[in-house]
Amino acid sequence: MSTETSHGEPLAFPPGFLWGAATAAYQIEGAADADGKGPSVWDTFSHTPGKVRGGDTGDIACDSYRRYREDADLLSSLGLSAYRFSISWPRVFPDGTGQLNQAGLDYYRALADALAERGIAATATLFHWDLPQALQDRGGWVARDTALRFADYAAAVGAALGDRVARWITLNEPLVVANNGYRTGVHAPGLRDMDAAAAVTHHLLLGHGLAAAALRAVLPSPADVGITLNLTPVRVPADANGSGEALERARLVTDACLNGVFLDPVLSGRYPEHALPALLPPDRLIENGDMETIAAPLDFLGVNYYQPVHLRPGDPDNLRRDEEAPLSGLGGVVQYRPDGMAQTAMDWLVDPEGLYELLLRLSKDAPGLPLYVTENGCAAEDYVNPDGAVNDLERVRFLHLHLDAAARAIRDGANLSGYFVWSLLDNFEWAWGYQKRFGIVFVDFGTQRRIPKASSAFLADVARANAVPPLPASWPRLGLAPELVERAGDFGGEPGIPGGRPRDVAVRVPGQAAVQAFHLVQPPDQVRARAARAAGQVRERGRLTGGADEHLVLADHAAGPGAALARLGIPLPRATAVTRHLVPPVRG
Ligand code: FCB
Repeated sequence: MSTETSHGEPLAFPPGFLWGAATAAYQIEGAADADGKGPSVWDTFSHTPGKVRGGDTGDIACDSYRRYREDADLLSSLGLSAYRFSISWPRVFPDGTGQLNQAGLDYYRALADALAERGIAATATLFHWDLPQALQDRGGWVARDTALRFADYAAAVGAALGDRVARWITLNEPLVVANNGYRTGVHAPGLRDMDAAAAVTHHLLLGHGLAAAALRAVLPSPADVGITLNLTPVRVPADANGSGEALERARLVTDACLNGVFLDPVLSGRYPEHALPALLPPDRLIENGDMETIAAPLDFLGVNYYQPVHLRPGDPDNLRRDEEAPLSGLGGVVQYRPDGMAQTAMDWLVDPEGLYELLLRLSKDAPGLPLYVTENGCAAEDYVNPDGAVNDLERVRFLHLHLDAAARAIRDGANLSGYFVWSLLDNFEWAWGYQKRFGIVFVDFGTQRRIPKASSAFLADVARANAVPPLPASWPRLGLAPELVERAGDFGGEPGIPGGRPRDVAVRVPGQAAVQAFHLVQPPDQVRARAARAAGQVRERGRLTGGADEHLVLADHAAGPGAALARLGIPLPRATAVTRHLVPPVRG
């Protein structure tokens, strides 16, 4: 394993490497019931009080259903060669099956045409979590029949768009559907049922296999069909103080539960031996031929990478700070968050070596199988500065580190063919609603204005050069003004990050403190004025949206909030203090 960074010289990607951005239908389209679309489980879930932060829904989201040309222009202006979007199943089959809704299909045809006109290759995901509610009412993925209906839907979409879509992804992150949707209930459809989740696991995999076959039957050849899995390296400390064996066992079990449950069936037609039995489907659900269907050769594997999991010896019944009970259910071991590692606004660890290791491992386990990073990115506390720019330096750093890791992995033998950043746009981040911004393009949800962030310019530069610039000799600690200033200056040589100014400073305050800081620095009448304006924007649009509830508010540090910030323990020697304010939801 190489852990060296690439100081000194740019690292090149292979010729023809695909540079893209990813989105998903429910997260960006809005137009929840336009042109005959049926409801999905996410429509139902987000409209159920208490399920999504702030009561946010995808009713309007980024309005990309209407603004897809503008979004295609954005991709094109960044020089990206590919776009990964998902198709909303209930837009095409409002009841999940039966009567096809031509208008829904036409939308995706128009989107694919808009991409083709701009020379952008379409990568379409068939299922990014928005199951038609009508199918949920018949059991959802607990029912084997849903896998068969998925294949019908795949065949219809493949026949209609086969000439326009370069790559097909059957499922996005089936583990998250089984786990969050049916086991923990934090995602739609919100069930908490271990047995249901185990059945869902098998039926999703079967759906993948059947849909892949259905696509191949209708697509012009060569057609690339794959699946996207979220994969998670599992780390244990090298020096385990005598618990080496228990830890290694926990590592194997955790790896099987997080990665093997979906990876092993698609790569080798069997469920992993180390996985917890409770996560696996009972034999009676596995019919003859299922595993062969699931394991039909893939044209590529899509990899979504965000962070690894760390295990260490500990007591799951007596957890310490930053510890969680291990997924493996094994005693003597806990999951933990190592001290001193950078974290994103989701509190996810920043660990680019995880991507490096994952890509090499996959290339070893599945030699010759092309890999795409179909998602990688981070949430950050983005804001529009007084000059109208969004200098998301944390995201630039994140992307730089991960692209460097990807380039090193290729150099060391990984079979990586492309990279899609998550995400093109700030969007509806599932149970987090609009509070978490992952875009390389900022979206002002009150006006739908798109503002490309500094990270989009960084990605565009990397794509254009087909190479990642050398990492700086040392990273400044993020979050403090002087270091950010240095970073803005030294990045990529002159002229540095476009629009970067020494006084751009994001104040990241853990938890509620950010809101507190806002109240302290912002005169109450200004708060009210902005809230009223936000409310007005929502009403003018004639619709209610959670998206407009969130407003970024700027406060000028020079106006005197220094003492207040100091009271909160935020060292901010100069410049502009920025924080987020959540305007109470507007009703009626
Ligand atoms: C992944 C999802 C994607 C997005 C990112 C942050 O799990 O596939 O839709 O929410 O996480």
